[in-house]
Amino acid sequence: MKRPGSVTAQAFNLPEYLATRVALVDRALDLFLPAATAKPATIHRAMRYSIFAGGKRIRPALCLAAAVAAGGDEAEALPLACAVECIHTYSLVHDDLPAMDDDDYRRGKLTSHKVFGEGIAVLAGDALLTQAFEIAAGCRGWPRYSHQTIILELARAAGSLQLIAGQVADLESEGKRISAQQLRYIHERKTSALLACSVRLGGMSANCTPAQLQALTTFGSNVGLAFQVIDDILDVTQTSEKLGKTAGKDPRAQKATYPALLGLDRSRRIADQLTRRAFAALRGFKGHARALAALAEFLLRRDH
Ligand code: IPE
Ligand code: IPE
Ligand code: MG
Ligand code: MG
Ligand code: MG
Repeated sequence: MKRPGSVTAQAFNLPEYLATRVALVDRALDLFLPAATAKPATIHRAMRYSIFAGGKRIRPALCLAAAVAAGGDEAEALPLACAVECIHTYSLVHDDLPAMDDDDYRRGKLTSHKVFGEGIAVLAGDALLTQAFEIAAGCRGWPRYSHQTIILELARAAGSLQLIAGQVADLESEGKRISAQQLRYIHERKTSALLACSVRLGGMSANCTPAQLQALTTFGSNVGLAFQVIDDILDVTQTSEKLGKTAGKDPRAQKATYPALLGLDRSRRIADQLTRRAFAALRGFKGHARALAALAEFLLRRDH
């Protein structure tokens, strides 16, 4: 895929970039979360088990990269990057519960409810969601984006009109033939909303201009939708070992997915097109958006 010249990721070492950002985010998360020994230890062990199980940390990386694209600095964005990862991990712990997707493996390990039981897994998800707001509450806000704006941004992305709405529609669509429009509704909400929020929060932490925020929103929502289309594709094309979660679950559960509705080829073309739109949104950021552009390309080509 050809990127606009100004945001070319030529000579950008993404594996090294990701490895250093994962380490940065992991260190910060370790400090933000209560110690595994804090009473009641079971819940803190369960929170840490899922958070440190080996996720790709895509949302935090997007948040940090967006801050730099908007002329800011990673340190300002770091707590928000951690908050978003807590919300994401909570959503996975609950997504895997028997009452939802009923999955036994996540991030290459047994799911939370398999290790700790369903009750503790529900509570670990609740605690991670709450932890996200505690972390975000520590941000003082920025001239254009108040403390309240930051909290509202997270709450809206995670709430019943976005992430939860998508999860509800996902469950209610199992076994049904739905339209492409309805499928897009699901994916935009269950996945794209939190990715776009990650990118927007990064921009906000850099006190970005309204025009920059608009461009970051376009970038984030297109990358976010492409991300879920690729997740659907990987479910039917990769092995469980590669994914760290059980492959082939979507057809078995009769989930509404892009490959099921439109086939693999069309799904891939849609992910390509969404990524192209995401690249186009980065034009105004010039060289500052190299990491964002490299991340978008990596997310399109990823195999897990
Ligand atoms: C998986 O997200 C769930 C989706 C929204 C598709 P990731 O693929 O980012 O999962 P981790 O964080 O790397 O485990
Ligand atoms: C997950 O979608 C979306 C959220 C957790 C919000 P999926 O159900 O497709 O994610 P995986 O495939 O289990 O990772
Ligand atoms: Mg699901
Ligand atoms: Mg699932
Ligand atoms: Mg999936």
